[in-house]
Amino acid sequence: MKKFHSPLAAILLFSVNVVYAQIIPIESKSNAIVLHVNSDGYLSMVYFGKKLADKNEYQQIPSTQNLDESNLYSSAYTTAGTHNVLEPAIALTHADGNKSLDLKYVDQSLVKLSDNVSQTNIRLKDPVYAVEVVLHYKVYAAEDVIEQWSEISNLEKKEISLNKYASVNLYLQAKSFWLKQYHGEWAKEMRPEEEKLTHGIKTLDSKLGARADLLQPPSFIISIDKPAGEDEGDVLIGNLEWSGNFRVDLEVDPTDNLRLIAGINNYASDYKLAAGAVFETPKFVYTLSHQGKGEASRNLHNWARKYQLVDGEGPRLTLLNNWESTFFSFDEQKLSEILKDTKKLGVDLFLLDDGWFANKYPRNDDHAGLGDWQVNKTKLPDGVGFLVKEAEKNSVKFGIWVEPEMVNPKSELYENHPDWVVKQPRRGDFMMRNQLVLDLSNPKVQDFVFGVIDDLFTKNPNLAYIKWDCNSVIYNAYSAYEKDQSNFYVDYVKGLYKVMDRMRQKYPKVPMMLCSGGGGRVDYGALRYFTEYWPSDNTEPQERVYIQWEYSYLYPALTSSNHVTNWGKEPLKYRVDVAMMGKLGFDIVVGKLSANDLQFCQQAVKTYKEFSEAIWHGNQYRLQSPWDNDVAAINYVDSLKSRAIVFNYLVSHRFDAGSHAPVKLGGLDPARHYEVKEVNLYPGVISAVKGGIYSGEYLMTVGINPEVREERPSVILSIEERK
Ligand code: DGJ
Repeated sequence: MKKFHSPLAAILLFSVNVVYAQIIPIESKSNAIVLHVNSDGYLSMVYFGKKLADKNEYQQIPSTQNLDESNLYSSAYTTAGTHNVLEPAIALTHADGNKSLDLKYVDQSLVKLSDNVSQTNIRLKDPVYAVEVVLHYKVYAAEDVIEQWSEISNLEKKEISLNKYASVNLYLQAKSFWLKQYHGEWAKEMRPEEEKLTHGIKTLDSKLGARADLLQPPSFIISIDKPAGEDEGDVLIGNLEWSGNFRVDLEVDPTDNLRLIAGINNYASDYKLAAGAVFETPKFVYTLSHQGKGEASRNLHNWARKYQLVDGEGPRLTLLNNWESTFFSFDEQKLSEILKDTKKLGVDLFLLDDGWFANKYPRNDDHAGLGDWQVNKTKLPDGVGFLVKEAEKNSVKFGIWVEPEMVNPKSELYENHPDWVVKQPRRGDFMMRNQLVLDLSNPKVQDFVFGVIDDLFTKNPNLAYIKWDCNSVIYNAYSAYEKDQSNFYVDYVKGLYKVMDRMRQKYPKVPMMLCSGGGGRVDYGALRYFTEYWPSDNTEPQERVYIQWEYSYLYPALTSSNHVTNWGKEPLKYRVDVAMMGKLGFDIVVGKLSANDLQFCQQAVKTYKEFSEAIWHGNQYRLQSPWDNDVAAINYVDSLKSRAIVFNYLVSHRFDAGSHAPVKLGGLDPARHYEVKEVNLYPGVISAVKGGIYSGEYLMTVGINPEVREERPSVILSIEERK
């Protein structure tokens, strides 16, 4: 039902006391958001917390106490240019140049999408200008997860300009708030910082354009009233589903409450919206837990596997990658040997990395060839097809690396299509890794990028895996295609998603890794199209414990591509044990392994497969943090609670560092009994762990000592139910 409220109509409605002055509860399994439409038609968020048994009681929740006369601190979608003087969620310039927007409630609908998923849509409209906004709240009840976004409709006769267009505007009421945020750089991804938010605005953002979270991801954790622990405390985890510039404003307002506004970064992006057009913001996904960060992250993992990831409930492929063993230097013979090693190792797939393409400017290092996706005839005279067949002969699968969004200036692609490249026309090139970014706002470039992938699959229907890399941010942002440069950053990401949409329509389940010269491109927007991501180029295993630990607050273990490499000084077993806590892969020269090392790796692949159900689809419990303990410990329990695996890693090399006390496990059934055993032992090593049968209660209350110390720096325990 569409209604237009003129100011007069609003007054009339108020005077007869209908429509306005109502509450809108939005409930999940444990929580409720309560929105309130006041007597003037303004929508605010008056409650976000535990759900009440009696829905009627939400009526009693007082409207929020604002100090200023605008009464807008708690607005559910704060507008700009009228009597609001706070940071807005939405700001725009009308066709006539006016910059004010006022949004009043029109109507709402509740759509049940499945037994578990429902969507509340609330329509708001400017009483003076023909602009309409619909706020969407999609609730995944069992997971306590909400996706929120908005649709902005230009019903005016001419183009309007969106100056800010957030996805979400939440209002949290409490005494204090703690923000856990992340920063990073190449090889230093996901470094956490946690602090109490003070009054004013704290902004997390990116202006990098592509691989936008290189320096800071669009993910954060808010603890309410006190820093939450793993198992206690009220905590919200949020992530913007957008792979481009983002902006999150966290404002502790004068009444000490928190205004949370997150969405696309409006930096250099006054988006021009044609008459009649609708702008849909990306979704912001969040979960609220009252039992700490552990439950909050499990909520998100469960949601992601079930609703967001490609094949989230399916299996993953173990693999051998050749990047660190060959870099750009390989030929058919070398790769044929590696294919034999893939089989010897016992993994599922061989992944051919960078360097297989380009002829006029061969891709023999990272200065040339990017963009020319024809097989390099010198290295691979018989084409990719030959390698796919060789893989088949060895009973393994074959996957390949691409970086289709990028171009080296030294390439035929650049020579032929200089206008397809993002660069300022009157300025010199400024590059990251000797490459420039293709202009994905241009539909012709979208076709080209889709064609790169499509061509690979058409020529090699048995291709089983893609590693999609992206090694540069956008410098000198300028598109030869866009009429208005202000739309470029947004249209770039929309163009990227169009390519990915097409790709997934045609190849719905092929496993694909989202990679980006290390971290810097993982968010739940991109993960709609991928099965996994590359957390960091830093595979030094101790560093990796911290990096994987922090990513685990956001993404389930089956998405984390962990490769065993030669980085660092830790023993092979430690490196393998660390990689096993996610999706296991190798990037080593198998031929150079000693007999014992090879035997260990082969056995580890088998052990990994045995416990993969718990690691990939089970529940994850972070038991002991690497930040506060000599030994980091984490366990995964399968959904039946009958099988678990516990990873323990020494992260300190100080005198006598080790596990001097038992580690308490999580997620088991206290009433059942489990056999504890050390697994993944290096050949010839005898376990020091006091295995045996224990109750779930014992293992979770007293715990078990993995006996980790300098001589045994990593220990994996298997926990199996015994009846
Ligand atoms: C960066 C990735 O992170 C590496 O794993 C590798 O694929 C290189 N790119 C190849 O250029």
